[in-house]
Amino acid sequence: MSTWTPQSWRQKPISQVPAYPDAEKLAAVEAQLAKFPPLVFAGEGRELKTHLGAVARGESFLLQGGDCAESFAEHGADHIRDFFRVFLQMAVVLTHGASKPVLKVGRIAGQFAKPRSSDTETIDGVTLQSYRGDIINDIAFTEAARVPDPERLLLAYRQSAATLNLLRAFASGGYADLTRVHEWTMGFMKDTSAYPRFEELAKKIDDAIDFMRALGLTPDNTPSLRETKFYTSHEALLLGYEEALTRRDSITGDYYATSGHMLWIGDRTRQPDAAHVEYFSGIKNPIGIKCGPSLSTDDLLKLLDKLNPANEAGRITLIGRFGAEKVEEHLPRLVEAVQKAGATVVWCSDPMHGNTVKASSGYKTRPFDRIMSEVQSFFAVHRSLGTYAGGIHIEMTGDDVTECTGGGVAAITDAGLKDRYHTYCDPRLNASQALELAFLVAEEVRAQRPARAIRAAE
Ligand code: PEP
Ligand code: CO
Repeated sequence: MSTWTPQSWRQKPISQVPAYPDAEKLAAVEAQLAKFPPLVFAGEGRELKTHLGAVARGESFLLQGGDCAESFAEHGADHIRDFFRVFLQMAVVLTHGASKPVLKVGRIAGQFAKPRSSDTETIDGVTLQSYRGDIINDIAFTEAARVPDPERLLLAYRQSAATLNLLRAFASGGYADLTRVHEWTMGFMKDTSAYPRFEELAKKIDDAIDFMRALGLTPDNTPSLRETKFYTSHEALLLGYEEALTRRDSITGDYYATSGHMLWIGDRTRQPDAAHVEYFSGIKNPIGIKCGPSLSTDDLLKLLDKLNPANEAGRITLIGRFGAEKVEEHLPRLVEAVQKAGATVVWCSDPMHGNTVKASSGYKTRPFDRIMSEVQSFFAVHRSLGTYAGGIHIEMTGDDVTECTGGGVAAITDAGLKDRYHTYCDPRLNASQALELAFLVAEEVRAQRPARAIRAAE
């Protein structure tokens, strides 16, 4: 008999917990949230799990991405629209290049809480609590700003609801219509190296649409041409928030997190006997596990056993984030262990979090060539072991930021990072870097198609 409940994680050791000064106020806010409507439905989580099952079988490819941390200050329609259109561009590049359906999952509408490597931050001799994401405290470097404030849970919930509402409208209300593929390009992208390739692709899509129209298939009578499915995901770090939004599905009686469609466990909170894994073991959503170099093979097998005892396809996505220099050392041992155990997983690569460096200018950055290199090694490892490289997970924005160095004709230099460095946490790919990465990934996905399928398609 299972002893799991939405609050059983409270009996387990836990890390990355904010120091709320007023426990009663926190409990009152959590109780209020527990009465709020769910942001997503259980049925949508099940649907996403089914799609991820197809990824696990090699029939589809997962694109997961968005801000490292959403912020209250950046919340607005333009920010969401610009993100969504770059995401659509990447997806269309991948669908076309790889001739595979692309499963679209944003790091958005709930991606607020951040794990930190240190509880405190020191600047010029002043030490304060670390910033832990807008759902917890404020990024300003003052004592008052850094005090965790429960009211922020309510603001994060409301922002997630508004963001999700706009995303649903974009996905089904015509913005994703393939006949509008040219409109997804933003002005500033015209000077980048990815732009001519994208325009060339957009013209091919136009031709294909004309051809289909001649056959009688139009966006009006063919929904798959005019709308898309878009799912949300975030790191479920702040378990009080997640517990309040955990609901029992009236159809199956199972518990689902309703704060987002897919949740993942971070690299710092994946200890098999600790609180986060306890929480995840009882919800039925599809879940991700970040896998860094410190993940032992034994722990990975324990996690799979605990989180997916029935070995359900689509339940688990393993998101490797090793770093360009370490991926070839660590990914093969994990892949082999999973293969030997007969476990079904989606293999996904996060080429961002293992490649963070400090630039000479002092900014935290990620060199584009190291990101590309980790992605290439990810595909190479799976090719050599005969497994399917099923997805990528990236930090990106539709804004024209200068946070990652390199990429494209107007490559960002260390000195140029200061120009538009806006991230609330980790450095993100800008729109043109994201698109450039998509072209590379499309080639890699295509190369892993079995030779027979390539011949049949050509
Ligand atoms: C993240 O995805 O923003 C993150 C903190 O990742 P990780 O847990 O892999 O370090
Ligand atoms: Co990050």
